[in-house]
Amino acid sequence: MREVVAGAVIGDGRLLLAQRTYPTDVAGLWELPGGKVEAGETREQALRRELGEELGIEVRVGRQLGDPVPLRADLVLVALAADLIKGSPRPEEHSAVRWVETPELESMAARGELVPADAAWLDDLIELLAVR
Ligand code: CDP
Repeated sequence: MREVVAGAVIGDGRLLLAQRTYPTDVAGLWELPGGKVEAGETREQALRRELGEELGIEVRVGRQLGDPVPLRADLVLVALAADLIKGSPRPEEHSAVRWVETPELESMAARGELVPADAAWLDDLIELLAVR
């Protein structure tokens, strides 16, 4: 079983979303950025590496957010809360990034603009934003 780790990154009280460019079924939709955990890495290490590579940011990784979401029989997606500690996100592999507050996140979810797996965490994300 492989894991994909996604970061619910909070900066200045807002949540970071990144717009996917591939595959075609999710291209244009917004996700919590992250990627696959490599052999020998912890989830935290993988998330810090992916966010550095994809966005050039440093984060402090916190607790697991919500429940894991099965992607395929051999792949599961796990979200971790994280705080931005350094840098300003520059999309290297995404088409754009944006910082959102709860109302915007809710509108995006209602319009189906989040990748389907991440939409399962909507309530957890709203709760995370409420305490920041
Ligand atoms: O770049 P890498 O192959 O490590 O990972 P990825 O392509 O970003 O993500 C692997 C899989 O997880 C893809 O099928 C993504 O669609 C999915 N994913 C997701 O559903 N939600 C996220 N927040 C991140 C990845």
